[in-house]
Amino acid sequence: MNFQLKPLTLAQATTLKTDALVVLVPATLPKDNSALGTLVTQAVRAGELDLGKPGKLLTLWRVPGLVASRVVLVTLGEGQPKHWRLAVTAAAGAVKSAKPKDMAFVLPSADTAQVCALALAVADAHYVYTATKPSAEAARLKTVTLGVPDVKMAQNALAQAKARVAGVTLAREWGNRPANHATPEHLAKVAESLTRLGPIQCQVMGPREVKRLGMGSFEAVAQGSENALRFIVLRYQGAAKTVAPTVLVGKGITFDTGGISLKPGAGMDEMKFDMCGAASVLGTFRALADLRPAVNVVGLIPACENMPDGRALKPGDVVTSMSGQTIEVLNTDAEGRLILCDALTYAERFKPAAVIDIATLTGACVIALGSVRSGMFATQDDLAQALLTAGEQSLDLCWRMPLDDEYADGLKSNFADVANVGDRSAGAVTAAKFLQRFSGQFPWAHLDIAGTAWKSGGAKGATGRPVGLLLSYLLGQQSEPKLAKKSVSRRTQA
Ligand code: BES
Ligand code: MN
Ligand code: ZN
Repeated sequence: MNFQLKPLTLAQATTLKTDALVVLVPATLPKDNSALGTLVTQAVRAGELDLGKPGKLLTLWRVPGLVASRVVLVTLGEGQPKHWRLAVTAAAGAVKSAKPKDMAFVLPSADTAQVCALALAVADAHYVYTATKPSAEAARLKTVTLGVPDVKMAQNALAQAKARVAGVTLAREWGNRPANHATPEHLAKVAESLTRLGPIQCQVMGPREVKRLGMGSFEAVAQGSENALRFIVLRYQGAAKTVAPTVLVGKGITFDTGGISLKPGAGMDEMKFDMCGAASVLGTFRALADLRPAVNVVGLIPACENMPDGRALKPGDVVTSMSGQTIEVLNTDAEGRLILCDALTYAERFKPAAVIDIATLTGACVIALGSVRSGMFATQDDLAQALLTAGEQSLDLCWRMPLDDEYADGLKSNFADVANVGDRSAGAVTAAKFLQRFSGQFPWAHLDIAGTAWKSGGAKGATGRPVGLLLSYLLGQQSEPKLAKKSVSRRTQA
């Protein structure tokens, strides 16, 4: 999907040739006597458009005096970014069955949050998955024109929007691919391909290196699979080498059968999405390559399958993690924490400013928060606050969950330092408490995206979340000195 900017008033839009013209109508109508301006005014007067509510639609076909074949008028309500998203989602959905090749939007204003909300919503509504369904290609929307009051002013906003779309789309793409088309090795190849796009380095380790590192817990999950594990290390350098990096750790279970603690058959196909944490790290790096913010970021992806097999890990087995802690594996289906704990220990070597892991970790988190907000756990209040804010800014919400030590009581084991599961209560929290044992050396946050990373049912597919949240967080970490310098020079000038 290509995005382009064009200076476009309502009058100019009257003669624009496009498959679908969408007019975003703000609560206060601009004065405009063109055919299109008059159409909007009359529709409002006649009560066909309620300006007070966002996402109200009026869809018209072959309007006399207009060149575009389809026109959609859609209200922005109070005009917050979330209202823009609602409006664009509604408008893009209304024309989807017509399979437009190009679309144009008339924007009343174009700040970064508005342009990002628009671009992400249209990309979301018109995403087509073709990797194993090439016939869907015919439905692809090729060009999206953003008609703005001032093209120059909107250029930075569009650049950021495009980078976000590219990141989210990459995460969706790899989330959606079935496990036989998205093996640990495939994920490693994607990571390697990112090095061509920006100041990104990539190192990929296999079973031998992982054994040498002492990642006995990660290794144990992978030992029942024919497809070998990969441990992927990505590095993005946008700031001085001395600036401590943020480390992102993504759960990369390319398929989760549950292992010997086998999952029920119904809906098991959705466990191809169990690498969406990994995909979100790849998507974030994709966007970093475009945006080049002044931050340092490390991405760690432990990638493997969780399979039952003659050599597979068994309930009751005790494994030794890279940290030296022994773990009694009471349930082989609680495998995410077993691969993440070793990646967290590996993260220590980067002396990180913060470590954030992203994982489709627990069904319990889906019960707790559904698909609206990701679960967020953090050992520091300012890190938690920054993630909450990043979620609000990117319309990719999360919600803080507790980490009281009492929640770890159920993880006691008679045969190892810790068990990998407790009882059924507060399952999302006990999983986080398990991980917290491996996070002593740095400020740490954990995002449980089990409810937000993909949709089930008719709209089954990866969402690309929480790439938006992670990007907003990282952009917010850009080094303060730069900003300080700017304001000093401005003062000197004055
Ligand atoms: N990948 C699953 C979590 C999951 C389940 C995400 C369903 C989305 C939907 C994870 O590996 C898992 O199986 N977790 C278990 C943990 C339990 C055994 C303590 C779960 O949530 O049932
Ligand atoms: Mn599992
Ligand atoms: Zn899993």
